[in-house]
Amino acid sequence: MTWKKTAAAVCLLAAVAALPAPAPRWTAADAAVPLEVESRPPLVALTFDDGPRGDTTGALLDGLALREVPATFFLVGSRLEGREELVARMAAEGHQVGVHTYDHTALTGLSRRDYDAQVGKTRAALAAILGDGDFWLRPPYGMTDDAACLWAGSPVILWSVDPEDWRDQDVERIVGEVVEHVEDGSIILLHDIYPSSVQAALQVVDILLERGCCFVTVEQLMERRGVEPEAGRVYRRFPPACQ
Ligand code: NI
Repeated sequence: MTWKKTAAAVCLLAAVAALPAPAPRWTAADAAVPLEVESRPPLVALTFDDGPRGDTTGALLDGLALREVPATFFLVGSRLEGREELVARMAAEGHQVGVHTYDHTALTGLSRRDYDAQVGKTRAALAAILGDGDFWLRPPYGMTDDAACLWAGSPVILWSVDPEDWRDQDVERIVGEVVEHVEDGSIILLHDIYPSSVQAALQVVDILLERGCCFVTVEQLMERRGVEPEAGRVYRRFPPACQ
């Protein structure tokens, strides 16, 4: 069986299992029959910040396409020019695209005008490539304050698994960190601007597919878990325990 078929089969099973079970109709004769435990396959969202970068992001998209695995990309506005095809490819291949500011500026303590020059300007640049969309926000460094959330205009997406892939760019260590800490509903943070992170991401996908995980975008993860996205609210994982 190819990776494509394996991944598709896992997620199909996951989708079926995620449907609500019909209410049991009890009779006295049924009372001794144990209830079948409803299986809930682990859902995992891979997210990538700081791109796009021509060579590394392209290689990542190739690897994800081969495995039929969707991801979420939070893009830096100043990196979009000249890389429009890469951004269009993300959307065309089922990935979620979001905003990571215009030039990777922390969103805390900004005036409304400066905030809009980071978030609004990047959303406009993405809309020029992809058409209108929500383009959810991931703030650089995960830093938010009341104003940053109030003005977000979309859910604010942080993460629950961070191998700090930028630190040493050590593929083996990054894969180990992610695989050790990932759990059902995790949002994994990686950066698609490093060749080591691309390599690590694809190894993580292969390992977690073997374990029966289903990869989804952040938006799909919320939908599958029945969480209504709220603008300005910070999310780290689903179910949103231990926020
Ligand atoms: Ni960043």
